Amino acid sequence: MLNHCIHGGKLYQFIGDDFRGLSNIYSTVAADVLDAWYPPSPNVLSKLQENLSWGSRTSPPLVANGLRRAIAETFVIPEDQIVMGNGSSDLIFRLLPSIFLSHHPVIIPAPSYGEYAHVLSDLCGKKIFHFPTYETAFQLDVDALIELFEAARFGGLVLVNPCNPTGQYLKREELIAILDAVDNRFPVLIDETYFAYLPRDCSMESEINEYENLYIFRSLSKIYGLSGMRIGYALVPAKMSNYYRARTPPYTVATLSQVAAIEALKDDAYTRSMIAETRMRRNNLHKDLLRFDQLTIIGSEINSLLVDLENADVSADIFVHAMAKKGVLVRNISSQGNRYPDRFVRISVMDYDDNLRIVQAIREVLGER
Ligand SMILES: Cc1ncc(COP(=O)(O)O)c(C=O)c1O
Repeated sequence: MLNHCIHGGKLYQFIGDDFRGLSNIYSTVAADVLDAWYPPSPNVLSKLQENLSWGSRTSPPLVANGLRRAIAETFVIPEDQIVMGNGSSDLIFRLLPSIFLSHHPVIIPAPSYGEYAHVLSDLCGKKIFHFPTYETAFQLDVDALIELFEAARFGGLVLVNPCNPTGQYLKREELIAILDAVDNRFPVLIDETYFAYLPRDCSMESEINEYENLYIFRSLSKIYGLSGMRIGYALVPAKMSNYYRARTPPYTVATLSQVAAIEALKDDAYTRSMIAETRMRRNNLHKDLLRFDQLTIIGSEINSLLVDLENADVSADIFVHAMAKKGVLVRNISSQGNRYPDRFVRISVMDYDDNLRIVQAIREVLGER
């Protein structure tokens, strides 16, 4: 049997993976994935519409050099060290096996985005040390993590900052303390997919040449409303740049995706306003969910909330199924990490009407019990 990581994204069970039931997108609330609730910038959409025919039939710039330049200029990072991917998922599968070479365990906080443990453990046969955050309200205990480096030998560290699914984050000084403590002993990979939800100084992109063992993965999916376009990049150590760029297939990012990404990066005002609006919607959804006595809501910095069902007398699995019957998809996170009871669900922030539907569906599901 093919071994895959468990994901959200049950939407295609409703619309069909041949897109036959596309009209169902309006009757289903896909709050089980962290795709943006908002559309790409209007400038992206008009550029795509103008170039749909040409962009569909024309091969893209071979290695997306224009897009790499735009990324380098936007985030003030070295262009030479940018490796493009067909979404950051592509980079996780393609780069991880050659980043983490040691046979010592790789530390991954738990819960955390599942693909890292999947690729390293299931596909590369590495041992994973799941560093628990459940006992510390999902906030990573940085001192305990640093103590751990001294207690045993490790082959790497993967951090997702801010973290999916917990919504918690590490501040700049905490990240620097971790990188200093690791002291180049093993590779440190920081996934910054949700970077725009944090103050800019929490990004370690500016430190890429301060630490020889630092890798940063970024996706353009969630922040720019471009999940369907599949664009991600890795910022790699200078000494590894030629190695990874040589192993990037030609045309890895589609023509229309390159066009969209370059336009999206230019429209910073739009991105900022959508992030601000998402924060406001998240805070409103949080307030609405606090009205349910049976639920404990974990505050979050990203476009989702984690909900603890311990006092709701329902397992996460049953809750997710009951919500799906009402057309609202939410995510059971018990598979993300190794010690999570069937108790936590992640609910994505959606647009105004869909957030109301989420609240209404929860009211019905809890009321039915
Ligand atoms: C933390 C994290 N990293 C990477 C990805 C993959 O993103 P992409 O769409 O770029 O493949 C996701 C998607 O949910 C994510 O949450």
